[in-house]
Amino acid sequence: MKKIISVVGTRPNFIKIAPIIRALEPYKSQFTHRLCHTGQHFDEKMSTIFFDELEMPKPDFYLGINQGSHAVQTAGIMVEFEKVLMNEKPDLVIVPGDVNSTMACSLAAAKLSVKIAHVESGLRSFDRDMPEEVNRIITDVLSDYLFVTEESGLTNLKNEGVKQEKIFFTGNTMIDSLVYFQEKINCSSALESLKLEEGNYILVTFHRPSNVDNDAGLTEIISFLNELAMFKKVVFPIHPRTKSNLQKLPVANNLNPNLVLLNPLGYFDFLKLVKNAIVVITDSGGIQEETTFLGVPCVTVRNNTERPSTVDVGTNILTGTNLAIVTSTVHNIMQGDKKAGRLPEKWDGHAAERIVSVLSNNIGSR
Ligand code: UD1
Ligand code: UDP
Repeated sequence: MKKIISVVGTRPNFIKIAPIIRALEPYKSQFTHRLCHTGQHFDEKMSTIFFDELEMPKPDFYLGINQGSHAVQTAGIMVEFEKVLMNEKPDLVIVPGDVNSTMACSLAAAKLSVKIAHVESGLRSFDRDMPEEVNRIITDVLSDYLFVTEESGLTNLKNEGVKQEKIFFTGNTMIDSLVYFQEKINCSSALESLKLEEGNYILVTFHRPSNVDNDAGLTEIISFLNELAMFKKVVFPIHPRTKSNLQKLPVANNLNPNLVLLNPLGYFDFLKLVKNAIVVITDSGGIQEETTFLGVPCVTVRNNTERPSTVDVGTNILTGTNLAIVTSTVHNIMQGDKKAGRLPEKWDGHAAERIVSVLSNNIGSR
C-alpha cells in the first residue's frame, strides 16, 4: 500500500484537489490518502464552505499557518509540514496550483526525498513580480510528476529542459469540479436571492496584489466600477485581501448603489453568477478558465496571463490594466461584440481520473 498526502491551502486549491480525492476512491487497495490543509485560507467563506460543497473529507492534518509575510508564511508551513512528513512517511505528496502552500510543501517534501506530483504544472506568466510565478517555477523544478492543464504548459516545461517522461498532459481538474457539480450550480438560488436578472449584470473579482495592494490603483478600480454601475448592475464578491485594503480608502464611502459588494461566495452560488453574467471582469487565474469553459465573456485586468489558452481559444480578453481600455472592451461586449470561444484540449471533466491512472501505473502497489 502506498501513501499519498494531498496538500490544500487556498480556495482554488480545494476546487482542484476535490476531483482527485474522488478519483482515488476506486484505488483504495493501492493507495492510502491523507489530506493536509495548511490553513492559508481559513474564513468560513474561503475554506469550510468548499469542504462542504465539494464533498471533501475533513483534513487529516491542519497546520494553521495563515499570517505574515511571504517568508513567514512559507517557512511556517514548511516547519509544520515537515513534521507531518516525518511522522507519516508518505510515498507521494500532491500539490495543486501556485500558492505559497504549494511551494512550501514541495520544498519540505523534496528535502526529505518524498516524491512530488504537481497538479497544474507548466503555467508561466513570465512575470516574476507575481509571487505565484516564483511558486510555479520552484514547484515544477522539484516535482517528479508534472500534470499539465493546457498546451502552453507542455511548451514551457520542454523549454525549461524538464525530462519528457515526467510530463503528463492530463487536463484541468478545476474544470472537473465544474463538470461534476453542474447540476448543483444550476440549482443555486443566487440570482433570486441577489435579485439579479439572467444576462443583465456584470460580475467582478479583484485580488491580485498588483491591482489591490496600492491605494491609488484600488481607488481607480473602484471608481471605474462605480462608473460602470451607471450602465449595468455590478456584483463584486470581495476577497479578504481586497476588503481589508478597501476599508481604508475614502472611495469605499462613495459607492454607486448599483455596485453590489458581497462577501466571498460559495462555489455553487459563485459559478451560478458566472454562468449568467453578461461579462466577468477579473484578475483571477481560475476564473479565466471557468469562463472559457462556460463560454462567458471574460475581461482579465492584467498585463499577462499564465493561461494563454483562455485567450487563444477561449472567451478571455487580456486588456492590461489601463482602465480606459477595460471600459471600452466591456462596453463592446455589452453591445454584443462577443468572442466565440472553444474548449481547450482535455478540459472534459476527466483530468483527475487521468492523473490517478498515471500515479497508479507509476507508483501504485497492488
Ligand atoms: C492567495 C495566493 C494567490 C491566490 C489566492 C486565491 C499566494 C502567494 N497567493 O492569495 O495566488 O490567487 O490566494 O484566493 O499564495 N485572509 C483572510 N481570510 C482568509 C484568507 C485570507 O482574512 O480566509 C487574509 C490573510 O490574512 C491575508 C490576506 O487575506 O492578510 C491575503 O491572504 P493570503 O493567503 O496571504 O494571499 P491571497 O491574497 O489570499
Ligand atoms: N470563487 C468562489 N467564490 C468567490 C470567488 C471565486 O467560489 O466569491 C471560486 C472561483 O469560481 C474559482 C476559484 O474560486 O473556482 C478562484 O479562486 P481565486 O480567484 O481566489 O484564485 P486564483 O484562481 O486567482 O488563484
